[in-house]
Amino acid sequence: MVKEKVKRLFRLLGDRDNLWMTVPLTVAALFVLLVLVKSCQGIIYYHSDECKIYRLGYPIDQARAITAALTERQAHEFIVNNEHDTIAYPLLSQRYFIANNFNRYLAYHKKDTTKVPLDIIVAMVNIGRDLDRELSAVPCDTTKGQLVLVNGRHYLDENYQPGNLATFSRNYCYEEQKAQSVVVDAFMAMQKACKEQTEAQLMVNSAYRSYHDQQGTYKRNPKGYAARAGSSEHQTGYAIDVTSREHPMRWPFDKSEEGVWMREHCHEYGFILRYPKKQSQIFGFAYEPWHLRYVGIETAKRIQDEDITFDEYYAYYIEREKE
Ligand code: DAL
Ligand code: ZN
Repeated sequence: MVKEKVKRLFRLLGDRDNLWMTVPLTVAALFVLLVLVKSCQGIIYYHSDECKIYRLGYPIDQARAITAALTERQAHEFIVNNEHDTIAYPLLSQRYFIANNFNRYLAYHKKDTTKVPLDIIVAMVNIGRDLDRELSAVPCDTTKGQLVLVNGRHYLDENYQPGNLATFSRNYCYEEQKAQSVVVDAFMAMQKACKEQTEAQLMVNSAYRSYHDQQGTYKRNPKGYAARAGSSEHQTGYAIDVTSREHPMRWPFDKSEEGVWMREHCHEYGFILRYPKKQSQIFGFAYEPWHLRYVGIETAKRIQDEDITFDEYYAYYIEREKE
């Protein structure tokens, strides 16, 4: 029955005499089609992440930027967990913003009663200060070689021993000290330049320490100045504690001409000050002007230029790559 009616309609429309009907009917059909397409688009958009974020109270340009910065999974998590949060959009423009940490930044901000600035929130979360140390502990990735990260969360196995240990000449240490051969070479170049420029002799007080050695160091040192066994980068052979023959004690060395020279030039030889003063105030590490970590010249220069810690460097330039 309906088929017949449709056939009749097409016959009528096809008839030259009914041309006056064809045009308005075609226009009407196109209009209906357009309305249908638009309605479908509207329904799809209404259920999109961008619109859901917009409905949380964000201006449309912010909703768009937030959606673009996050993966689908991250956006869903954000939508489920959040009411309107004033820091969500400004977070995106932070220098070391990592999309994978977005929801953790928001959670940190919510809990933080001291209201630290956004760049600090980003840094804290990137280095895992928002996580439970024990629960989030991970084995160190020693395949990273000189870029291995060792800290309170990233631990070395009791039996881990580095492969390429070399011995320092006794002219530069008070008792036998070993480190990765690349570290011994870099130290030799650095001490030579330091001697030429300050006339002082840099000395290695401590370098490679086994897990067992570190247990003793941990017991002997004041709280905060030695890592627990398994959490010390001395076990990798890439860390050395340096003072000078002229200023053998750690603190006068800090202020001495050669101590200042070492801080300013160590990156030229591939070393960084692993626990610098500025970050110690932020992250709560003890400031250790004597503890150098070898990371290679390129990385050391970048860390120096960007004024970040190795933990921040690792989170942003190494771990983020895995996202
Ligand atoms: N002094 C540093 C933290 C260590 O023991 O590795
Ligand atoms: Zn040290």
